[in-house]
Amino acid sequence: MSKEAILDTYSRAAQETLKDLCCGVDYREEFPPEDLGHIPDEVLERNYGCGIPSELKTLDPGRTVLDLGPGFGRDCFIAARKVGAQGQVFGLDMNEEMLRQAKRFQPQVAEALGYDNVRFIKGQFDVEIPLEADSIDVILSNCVNNLATDKETAYREMFRVLKPGSKLSFADIVSYQPLPLKLQQNERAWADCVAGVLSFQQLSERLNQAGFHGVTLTPLYLWSAGKQLLHNYFDLEGEGSSGKLSDQETQQVEEVRLYSVAIESFKPVVDPKGECFWKGQYAIFHGPGVSMQLDPDPDHVFQVGTLKEVCEKTAAILSSAPFRSHFTVFAPQGEVEPRVCLPEQQCC
Ligand SMILES: C[S@@+](CC[C@H](N)C(=O)[O-])C[C@H]1O[C@@H](n2cnc3c(N)ncnc32)[C@H](O)[C@@H]1O
Repeated sequence: MSKEAILDTYSRAAQETLKDLCCGVDYREEFPPEDLGHIPDEVLERNYGCGIPSELKTLDPGRTVLDLGPGFGRDCFIAARKVGAQGQVFGLDMNEEMLRQAKRFQPQVAEALGYDNVRFIKGQFDVEIPLEADSIDVILSNCVNNLATDKETAYREMFRVLKPGSKLSFADIVSYQPLPLKLQQNERAWADCVAGVLSFQQLSERLNQAGFHGVTLTPLYLWSAGKQLLHNYFDLEGEGSSGKLSDQETQQVEEVRLYSVAIESFKPVVDPKGECFWKGQYAIFHGPGVSMQLDPDPDHVFQVGTLKEVCEKTAAILSSAPFRSHFTVFAPQGEVEPRVCLPEQQCC
């Protein structure tokens, strides 16, 4: 899929308000006035997001934040106030026009805050994020993840720049089934945040493949349903932009439901790959649920209420977010002879 349609759409969206791209969330209803008072109205009104990245509401002072695809810079400016003068916010966008708009409002925001801790930079996060490895505390993005044409590279790059133990927090669109091919191939639907959407399972698998763990999804609202998609992207009477659909293809598109969701996931505190040594630690899973699969490894399953040997690395992971509220990790009792942790010994 070429990036031309995406670039073209967001160049136009930088110059005029494209109502069809616009969101279903009014930030003024979701944030207290003090979180938004330093942001010009035009920035708040030019909202091309599809929700709110959860972490944007709870950022701590001093954090280093990266916002992918900031558009007019709204989420960067909110983050700038929350992380304070000691924090730093990067906004990475591939579109010159959008960057120009965001930079236009930057002095006004800086004057209201009394400091300038935002840097807007040009780049494509699904090619290379032009930042150091292990340098970012939180990655935010609002309706941008689905626009990545190379998601494998995008998640690898996000994983690289995040500090161990840190989080990505997206507002994005997901489907509950993989999208029909005809919809995936529709250029215009790509730029409209539709064709690049993954099912939750696909998204979760890809994040896991890149090394992330603890993927959670919170549904926000219905973004679009099949009939609307048929109407927007296919000419059912004749040759549409992606050609005429067969009855079966029409039915497949009609069944699609797209949801706005909040997604979170963590970079583990330690690299889970490589050898794992048991040094006397145990963990017990408290729920909710009857079991938890820590990662794609079939041996990393914890049954509720059952004590299990865990190696040093797993103990570190279970003692950190998001797992620590679901597990108790017991420290070694007395002297323990370290040994390699093997699944057949019920250790992981
Ligand atoms: C749907 S808009 C969202 C803008 C903003 N996050 C908001 O909530 O209003 C998508 C933004 O992501 C940018 N974008 C799309 N693909 C990108 C990529 N691969 N790398 C960097 N920016 C990208 C676009 O230029 C645009 O500014």
